[in-house]
Parts: sequence; structure tokens; C-alpha cells
Amino acid sequence: MLDRDSGVPLQRQVSDQFAALVRSGRLRPGDTVPASRVLAQQLGVSRNVVLRAYELLRANGFLTARHGSGTRVADSGTTGRTTPVPPTTSRAPLSPQPPRPTDTGEGLWQPWEPPPVQHASHALDFRHGTPALASFPVAHWRQSLNTVLNRADHAMLGYGPAEGSPALRAEIATLVRQSRALDAGPDRVVVTGGATQAMDILVRTLIEPGDVVVIEDPSHTVLRQIFGASRAAVVPVPVDDEGLRVPDIDARVRETGHDPARVRLVYVTPSHQFPTGRVMSRARRRALVAWARERGATVLEDDYHNEYTFTEERLPALAAEPHQDVVVYAGSFSKTLFPALRLGYAILPRPLVRPFLGVKWITDRLTPTIEQEALADFIARGAYARHISRTSRLYRQRRRRLLEALDEHFGAGVRISGESAGLHVLVTLTALRGVAEDEIARRAAAREVRIYPASGYYVQDPPAEPSFLMGYAALTPERITEGVARLAAAARETDLPRPA
Ligand SMILES: Cc1ncc(COP(=O)(O)O)c(C=O)c1O
Repeated sequence: MLDRDSGVPLQRQVSDQFAALVRSGRLRPGDTVPASRVLAQQLGVSRNVVLRAYELLRANGFLTARHGSGTRVADSGTTGRTTPVPPTTSRAPLSPQPPRPTDTGEGLWQPWEPPPVQHASHALDFRHGTPALASFPVAHWRQSLNTVLNRADHAMLGYGPAEGSPALRAEIATLVRQSRALDAGPDRVVVTGGATQAMDILVRTLIEPGDVVVIEDPSHTVLRQIFGASRAAVVPVPVDDEGLRVPDIDARVRETGHDPARVRLVYVTPSHQFPTGRVMSRARRRALVAWARERGATVLEDDYHNEYTFTEERLPALAAEPHQDVVVYAGSFSKTLFPALRLGYAILPRPLVRPFLGVKWITDRLTPTIEQEALADFIARGAYARHISRTSRLYRQRRRRLLEALDEHFGAGVRISGESAGLHVLVTLTALRGVAEDEIARRAAAREVRIYPASGYYVQDPPAEPSFLMGYAALTPERITEGVARLAAAARETDLPRPA
């Protein structure tokens, strides 16, 4: 039911009503949604209205579009939440109600369940984002922990500073100055529980109801969740070979029924766009910062594994001078060391430091002190730099082996993107155009190989050919060779459904 006189853009009305249907349980996870053309006809609107509404719903986690299997209601993971709550009247007898999580009201968002923990398996797992954990120098880490515990006094066991250990903040300031040309004093560095917490706190610090957050399309689903959990409207803007299409931001924001003047935050991954792996060009970086200055928006630079860049030329961080007043930098030790460490950091423009710390304090007070001190010691004694240079060599070899093996088995039937940096590449199996990604992943899994479909990361234009994220950091060259051979065998299966 659309109200053409309400002043609310039609695509917004369509997406709000879908969201309400999902929340009330009338649309359930896995349900398909009507084809855009059909729904447009039923509603008497242009197909673009429906396409934009679906896009908003995908950006906010209500719908997923999988290459080859259409658009469906996403898994909500919120059992109970989808049960309609009976209306209460003043005379209704009081009866026990199951606890109900808060509803984000008008926000187009549903919380997702955390992904299941991955247990070690025999499968050849090309999961992206897992570093070479087997190569982590446990003995050196133990030494740093012991050093800290041996000198720990009562003061170290109390509530420490919300901004983090002075020693670690000084080490981080040196690291980013040397590797990212980002010359920030330790007073602008705040230690967080991973980059994820840095980004979540930033959103809580900056965003007000009605604000707009611009994200890259495609982008990481976790980030869409962080932004979607706020009262902001999340607007995806496409990425091309040079990175986020900055000149399109205003038009895209308007098309989704919002005002470009309300853009408060623009999220980007300039060193290695997630998941395409492209590096943002100089021209685009300049354009983005100029755009943000003009609009009074803040840019969030997620530099989640910048340490691993395999090309000669390396661009400085976006947050480096002269852009430090509009860019917040988020860094992480999850890829260089190990994800369970839960240590990351934000480097903030000075006026944001105190408000950010206010939110950090109510979120978790501070990040665990002993691990912070141990990491400062680990960096100071050179163990961190040695580990990075060792893993860089390892990842170069593994990446080369993956690219060679894909070429050997798929030849002209494969396209690779994002091989100049990071711990994964985006692999498009052009020879299997028309075959559903999930089907290929299932066939590979039957041969004990895990690969990860990419189209779920796209809001607007999922790839026309089956595409997968393939992480190589945690697999030896021999395992990579074996994994690609098995994947190729799965791709050759004669009963694989192929288009006529
Ligand atoms: C795009 C992106 N940003 C940031 C992170 C780092 O998150 P954290 O430091 O919280 O582990 C990841 C980890 O996978 C990521 O993929």
C-alpha cells in the first residue's frame, strides 16, 4: 500500500513495508521475494523504485541476493524476534512474556547471529581473513607475556586508562609513521578491542538519527551490520577499478530518498578494497577527501591488513597529512598476529578523541591491560617486525602458488582481482558463467575444499559470473596445489548444471 501524498519517497515506503513484514514474521528467512518487474506492476510504480527498495533492504541485511538463486529474505538469527507481539490492552491479564530484544524502530536493520566458530578440519579451507596461525611465534609471545607478568604490580591490575597503554600507543604511533606515513602523536591513538570495536565506537560517537552512512558496494557484511545497527540510513555506492565512485555519492544518496547534506560518515578500504582487493587511486583519494571536507563528513579508513602489500609502490594512508582532520584510521592486529588477540586501534582527529573515549568507557572501560603491555613489549623487542617480514615472504609464495595453480587448471576460464595486496584474492570462474556459486561451493565441499561465494557482499550488481573469495595465507603451497586441483575436478563434473 503506497501513499503517494505522504512525501515519503516510494522506494522508502516499499523497503519499510518489507522490513515490517520480515520483523513480524510474515516473511521468513529463505522466502523468495517477488521479481522486481512483477512487484512494480502490482504496485503501479516504475521498476527502479522496487530495485532501489530491494537494494536498501540488501544493504541493511534484510535480503540476500545470491548469484543463480535469486533474492531471498536473509537469515535473521533472531528466533523469537519474528514472533508478532500480541497487542496489550489495559484489561489484558498480566502473563509472562519471553524477553524481547529491542527493536531498532524505523531503522532497516536486523541483528545477525555471530557466525559459527570454525573448528579445525581436514578440509582445504580457502577462508579469507585467517592468517598463518601455525607460523605465529608462540615462544616469543610467551616471553613478552612473562616479562609483563613478572613486573606487574597492583596498579596494572586496576582500571587502566580508557585510551590504552601508553607504551602500546607510542609503539602504534611509530608503526603507522614508518609504514603508513601517518604522523600522529600517541595522544591521537586509542587502543580498542579489534578494528571492529573502533568502528562501532566511532559510529556511536558520530551518528545521529536521520544521518546517512555511505559504504562501498561491495563491502563486508559485518560493516554493514555495524552501520545498520545505528539509526543511520546506509547507502551503498559502487566501487570501480579506482575504488569508491566518489562522483556518484550525491546522486546515489538522493536516489535512496536521502539528503546528501546528511552524510556523516563514508566508509572505505583504500589499501585493499574488501572484497575486490582493488587499491584506491590517488585521484579518488583526493576527490574523496575534498568531497568530505565540503560536506562536513568524516571518512573512515579501514586499513585492516595494510602490512601485506606486494607491489613496489605503496600509497600513504588516507589519514596521513594533509587529510588528518577529516579521516579516522582504524587498524588491527588480527591479521598480522592472531584474531583472538582482539587488539586494534583508532587514530582520530584531535576533536574526536575525548568523545570517542567517553563511548569507549561505557562500552568496556578499557581494553585488557596485560595483553596491551605484552604487545608493546613484543613490538619493542623486534618480534613483531620479524614476524611481519617472515609472513610477508610466506604470503608472497602462497599467493604465487595460488595464482599459478588457478592458471594451470582454469587458464582463460578464470579472472583474478586484488592480487596486489592482502590475504585473499577474488576469483571469478568465467568458464562457469551461469552456474550458481552455491552449487560450485557445494561440489567443492564434497571434495573437502572450502571456497566462499562473493555475491553476498554486493548490494547492487552481484557479479554476472560465479565469484569466490579465496584466502591463501593459512595454507601451505602443497595444500594450495591440492585444493585448486580438487576445485578444478569439481568444476569439471559433467552433471554440473550449465546454461543451455
Ligand atoms: C574489512 C575488515 N575490516 C576489519 C577487520 C578486522 O577486524 P578485527 O580487528 O575486529 O578483528 C576485518 C577482519 O576480518 C575485515 O575483514
